[in-house]
Amino acid sequence: METITISASKTYKVITDSALLARAGGFIRNALGEKGKKLCIVTDDQVDPLYTAPLEASLCEAGYETVTFAFPHGEASKSLETLSRLLEFLAENQLTRSDALIALGGGIPGDLTGFAAASYLRGIPFVQVPTTLLAAVDSSVGGKTGVNLKAGKNLAGAFWQPSLVLFDMDTIKTLSYDLLLDGIAESIKAGAIADKELFLYIQKAERLTSPETIAHLSRRAIEIKREVVEADERDTGPRQLLNFGHTIGHAIEKSSDFSITHGHAVAMGMAIVSKASQEMGWSQEDCHAPIVNSLRRFRFPLDCPFTAAQLSEAARKDKKRMGDSITLVIPVTLGNCQLKSIPVSQLEDFIKAGLS
Ligand code: GLY
Repeated sequence: METITISASKTYKVITDSALLARAGGFIRNALGEKGKKLCIVTDDQVDPLYTAPLEASLCEAGYETVTFAFPHGEASKSLETLSRLLEFLAENQLTRSDALIALGGGIPGDLTGFAAASYLRGIPFVQVPTTLLAAVDSSVGGKTGVNLKAGKNLAGAFWQPSLVLFDMDTIKTLSYDLLLDGIAESIKAGAIADKELFLYIQKAERLTSPETIAHLSRRAIEIKREVVEADERDTGPRQLLNFGHTIGHAIEKSSDFSITHGHAVAMGMAIVSKASQEMGWSQEDCHAPIVNSLRRFRFPLDCPFTAAQLSEAARKDKKRMGDSITLVIPVTLGNCQLKSIPVSQLEDFIKAGLS
């Protein structure tokens, strides 16, 4: 069992192990204390038949009464409408401030549940139980919660830290290779911003998707996320380093109508930004080759199907844009990135250099 403690506005544990779902009740009781009686499990209709029953059994064994709110899977459900249905469901089931929500699933249940927890009765506790690698290494840790608006992704939300994160490594056995890659991309990103050794590890690893390799990559990604979140919980400075590859990645996701998934788009984004930074003379050493070689070892498709003009147009609408400038994350040396603000008017040339 691995335990990583996050000390932000709330101090909580991220626990990783096999067969954790069956033991979740005890860990949740420890984290939430003796007062709570009722828990609402929030999940989607793909995860529900796989994991709600064992989780529920363990929660009941720990003395909890549970109710389950399951919504249709997919990005369309990460909406104000689902949030409103969830809040009404909590009120109908008379959850009180000493009760809690359990987010079971990937990033969509996680973000939606966190936002509902932040707003129901002006804030009740919640626990993250990620069942994808992407949610385990990124969205379940750090307290970013929210839903999409018509104008864009994650435009309404709150910083609201969970009381506990439980990552049962067995749940990734049901993921497709593509879904696994989405999480691996975030782990390679963590290495690029803060852990040069990770690249050596990937180069040497014989069985890239063995439980040991995945456990190592996810542990390092969570530890690096901890450092950044503890330094800047509200995302006004160093936390933005977690966006390496994301500005271009989001533009790729959006331009593909989300048929290219987050991690795959971030992988292409990292390849483009590391190449462009080198071409611009902003990197002090070759960060592009090790990043791309690591991504290729996992067989990430890296050929971007969009032009620099298309991507810069999509990136202009990114929520990270500040007036006429946009902040990019630049690899200076491997394992060391910096924020660099550039005029939006230079973005197309920058991307062009990365695609060449
Ligand atoms: N996913 C980026 C962050 O949590 O800041």
